[in-house]
Amino acid sequence: MIFAANFKTNHTRASTAKYIAVLKEKLHAKKPEDRVYIFPPATALDQYEGDFKIGAQNAYPTQNGAFTGEIGLEQLEEFGINTLLIGHSERREKLGESQEKVAQKFRFFKDQGYEILYCIGEPLEIREKGNEAVMEYLLAQFDGIDIGYEKLIIAYEPIWAIGTGRSATVEEIASTHEALKQTVQKPLLYGGSVNPANIKEITAIRGVDGVLVGSASLDAEKFSTMILA
Ligand code: PGA
Repeated sequence: MIFAANFKTNHTRASTAKYIAVLKEKLHAKKPEDRVYIFPPATALDQYEGDFKIGAQNAYPTQNGAFTGEIGLEQLEEFGINTLLIGHSERREKLGESQEKVAQKFRFFKDQGYEILYCIGEPLEIREKGNEAVMEYLLAQFDGIDIGYEKLIIAYEPIWAIGTGRSATVEEIASTHEALKQTVQKPLLYGGSVNPANIKEITAIRGVDGVLVGSASLDAEKFSTMILA
């Protein structure tokens, strides 16, 4: 299983260091085949040793240059970062990233050999139209994306389940993952209100290869409990 923690705009450099110290100890008890990823905010990126990987939540597709407010390859390389989250719904919806922009990022960081955790997900009005509409919407989020890329991990995150406390049902996750796997044969994570109470049920679903966790990942003890569950 893959367990990924997306801190979003939470935690500082200092609190991330404390978090990692707690997590590192707890991870001695994890199954060797389980993989853990932490995506702290950009200001907290650093080189950490341990049985986990640190990734960036976002970066601009450039080595360096005039892109005010952004970080590029040069800033990531300082900390040995080679894992990146791309396509999160909050970046698509709140930060206005188009599919074209997302695909441009993907191409750039793929060419740099980055491991990419690529997110897709539908809004509630599409989910309410039924499975066919959901799949059409999700597959459009692969436009311009090389789904055969060897270092690709996909996260399916229904937007209506993110940060709402309302996870998708087992049936919704199972059927969506099954349908996605017909198109893309990559590790497929589920994200959206995953927490200690539902982690076992979700990771037991066929076609779920891991989870991407927001709110419930912010506490190191809580996130560790989910990994060791
Ligand atoms: P959540 O966020 O766990 O708080 O729902 C998940 C995500 O956005 O990756």
